Order: sequence, then structure tokens, then C-alpha cells
Amino acid sequence: MVAHHMFLLSLLVIATTMQATHAVNYVVTNNARNTAGGVRFDNEIGADYSRQILPTATDFIWRIFQQPNEADRKSVQQVSLFIDNMDGVAYTVNNEIHFSANYIGGYSGDVKREFTGVIYHEMTHVWQWNGNGQAPGGLIEGIADFVRLKANYAPSHWVRAGQGDRWDQGYDVTARFLDYCNSLRNGFVAELNKKMRSGYNASYFVDLLGKTVDQLWSDYKAMYGNSK
Ligand SMILES: *[C@@H]1O[C@H](CO)[C@@H](O)[C@H](O)[C@H]1NC(C)=O
Repeated sequence: MVAHHMFLLSLLVIATTMQATHAVNYVVTNNARNTAGGVRFDNEIGADYSRQILPTATDFIWRIFQQPNEADRKSVQQVSLFIDNMDGVAYTVNNEIHFSANYIGGYSGDVKREFTGVIYHEMTHVWQWNGNGQAPGGLIEGIADFVRLKANYAPSHWVRAGQGDRWDQGYDVTARFLDYCNSLRNGFVAELNKKMRSGYNASYFVDLLGKTVDQLWSDYKAMYGNSK
């Protein structure tokens, strides 16, 4: 009986250790404490909230991308968030998210909600495939904003569905278009991302939806009365 318990306990220890080995580590650093935006980050958002939302966004992205298994995902051990004294909004490079303290400081409205929405976008860049560098930049940004849209963090200043000039314009325009494509085939964006693991070809749209991306864009525009 004791031996039996010891065996179960060993299994539990092994299972826990394995999980710990593969868990993603999240690190938050505020490099802008000497700026108004850095102070606002500490007061209205905070490192604790950030450390909570980073893994939440990751789990959401793995679900949207239909990547239940480790083998499906990009191999990333650590994601670092830096609040930096810089212009712009945010960017992601080498699994480091750099967030502008100036943007946080100057944002009028619910800054915590805006911060969270941007984190979903940036975290998507950590996990998405980029077609081995061959995918259009507008599509990469569109997928990141599609995730933000699906997480219910689309801000009010975004274009409405049907607006925009080109499918690969990027950001909100492409996100709304991808949402249309996804409505034609549930899981479309997940399947597109899977195909983008090793390369990119516009024919992926034909493979998944039976139409060229240009045809899909004109169908989409027509559905909304070709609104600007
Ligand atoms: C893209 O796919 C089409 C259709 O399958 C193929 O003919 C073409 O060679 C591919 N282009 C590239 C660059 O792989």
C-alpha cells in the first residue's frame, strides 16, 4: 500500500516537473518609472495585472490557432514585456514586447482596456507563423488584430466591417476581412496560420475557401455595398 502511494506520488512529481519544464515564463519590466506614462502604468495597469494577462492572452491565441499540443506551437520559453520611454504604441521582437510609456501616458479613455487589447495583438506576433518571412506584412498585422477582435478588445476607432481599400492593408481592415473569411469557414484563420508555418502562397485562400483572395475581397466589399 505504501509502495503504491509512493508510486502515485512519483508520477505526480514527474508530471508536475514536466509541466514546469514546458511552461512559458513571463517577465514584466517598467523601464519608464521616471515618466508620467510609466507612473500611470504602475497606478492604472500594473505589473501584477500584466503578469496575469500575458498567459491569458497566450492561452486564447493557442485556442484561436487550434494548437492544443506543444508540437503545434512555436517553441517559446519566455516572453518579456518592457514598458519603455519611446514613441509609437508597441512592437514585438525576439519574444520581447516593447510598450510605449508615452502612449499609456497620453491615452484618453480606459487605458487598461486599451493596454490589454494591444497585448493581445503583440502576443499574437509572438505565437503566429509568418510563412518563413514570405507572408505579406499586412496579413501578419491583420491576423494580430483578428485575434484582438475575437478577444473582444477592438477599440471604437477601428474601421467598420466592409471598410478599406485592399485586403492586405493590414491591421483593422484586414482583421475585418479575415473575420468575413472565417465566417465562410469556421477555423479559417487557424488553418491559414498552420499553412504559414513553412511558407506563404496566395493560393492558400483558394485551398481553404475555393476562391482567390481578390475574389473574396470583392465579394466582401459588395456585401457591404462597397463602403469606403
Ligand atoms: C503558389 O501556388 C500555386 C498553385 O498551387 C503554384 O502554381 C505556385 O508555383 C506557387 N508559388 C510559389 C511561389 O510557390
